[in-house]
Amino acid sequence: MSQAIKVLVIGSGGREHAMAWKLAASERVAEVIVAPGNAGTEVEDKCRNMDVAAEDITGLLALAQREGVGLTVVGPEVPLSMGVVDQFRAAGLRIFGPTQAAARLESSKAYTKDFLARHDIPTADYGVFTQLQPALDFLDSRSAPIVVKADGLAAGKGVVVAQSLEQARDAVRQMLTGNAHGSAGARVVIESFLEGEEASFIVVAQGRRYVTLATSQDHKRIFDGDQGPNTGGMGAYSPAAVVTPEIHARICRQVIEPTLAGMDAEGNPFGGFLYAGLMIDSRGDFKVLEFNTRLGDPETQPIVYRMESDLLELLEAALDDRLGQVDLRWTSQPALGVVMAAHGYPGTVRKGDPISGLDADLCGAKAFHAGTAMHKGGPVTSGGRVLCVVARGADVQLAQQRAYAAVHKIRWDGVQFRSDIGHRAITRQG
Ligand code: AMP
Ligand code: GLY
Repeated sequence: MSQAIKVLVIGSGGREHAMAWKLAASERVAEVIVAPGNAGTEVEDKCRNMDVAAEDITGLLALAQREGVGLTVVGPEVPLSMGVVDQFRAAGLRIFGPTQAAARLESSKAYTKDFLARHDIPTADYGVFTQLQPALDFLDSRSAPIVVKADGLAAGKGVVVAQSLEQARDAVRQMLTGNAHGSAGARVVIESFLEGEEASFIVVAQGRRYVTLATSQDHKRIFDGDQGPNTGGMGAYSPAAVVTPEIHARICRQVIEPTLAGMDAEGNPFGGFLYAGLMIDSRGDFKVLEFNTRLGDPETQPIVYRMESDLLELLEAALDDRLGQVDLRWTSQPALGVVMAAHGYPGTVRKGDPISGLDADLCGAKAFHAGTAMHKGGPVTSGGRVLCVVARGADVQLAQQRAYAAVHKIRWDGVQFRSDIGHRAITRQG
């Protein structure tokens, strides 16, 4: 067996805690450095936080060189869109993730829609606009509901599902002239509203080769019953029952393979996690809502909680172009994660609320940290999504019961969480 290496995980959310935890479990990992990390990664076995921001590419490069890091894994989209992968490679460092050019599949929705159209990959019909009047004229020819999206990265807040044309016009005006989302909104995509059930379909890709991760489903709205404003995600579970084996095979054939082939043919071979956000209708037909060029948050937490094989081995196999030999193993038990959010989320968030109960026996559940920090020796809230509490069970209902039993042991002032994570899968299960 080759020598154990140091791994650097870039980011500070629940996704990064889950990745660091799983990487640290590998015998081939000597230590995981998390930059900047959170209060959870600070105390995780074999993990160490370093206070370098995820967007400070120069600082991250210096850190990786100083520490002799053998592999860097990127959590969030912003450093990818800034070219962290290109810069690490130019310095001779090994890093898992897409180049800046390939990361446009997430960083520009207009680029992605045109790419999908060019390659006949199913997606909602759309128009792309930089000028107000043509955008308003386009809306006049459509009917509500209709969806308006800022082109660039907007931390999940650049999408308006407009229930009326008036609301759509307002959104377009705010993005194109009102400077909502800054340069991210200088171009907008307007697309047809799609009905159905969403699923997250994530693969590890290297050029045209890929392996699929377990499927998952996120809950984007803040309130029970999928009501209220969109968030970064209030909970997730894996697998997504809506993705039957037959639909799974068609997604590979009609979305993943033409996307990887198209990127390769256009001179931007894709390496990294490719996440297709899909809308699946009642007939089992699907369309691409978006791509992310990274793992999902909170989807990663239940996904890695089901992964039995070694995550480092998977990422190294991708980088060494031997994905064909990977033996990826999952427990058949579903896993379900409940996000516990801070007071005010998804609006203005209150920070500094002391968190209690994290030292309780969570009976096999795991509390992955996101917006947490240590203050005077104890954990406090420091961001919108604070924790994601994940459990497994023989079925989704049991996983849900265990996750909520753990959630109820943890508290702070103003804590918010949904009480129905997994409801679609449980209804389906009957
Ligand atoms: P996106 O960032 O493009 O995935 O959009 C964020 C969320 O908005 C998605 O997860 C969906 O819930 C919703 N959404 C986006 N596009 C559409 C669409 N064309 N039809 C219906 N809902 C959509
Ligand atoms: N949970 C959705 C995302 O990571 O974009």
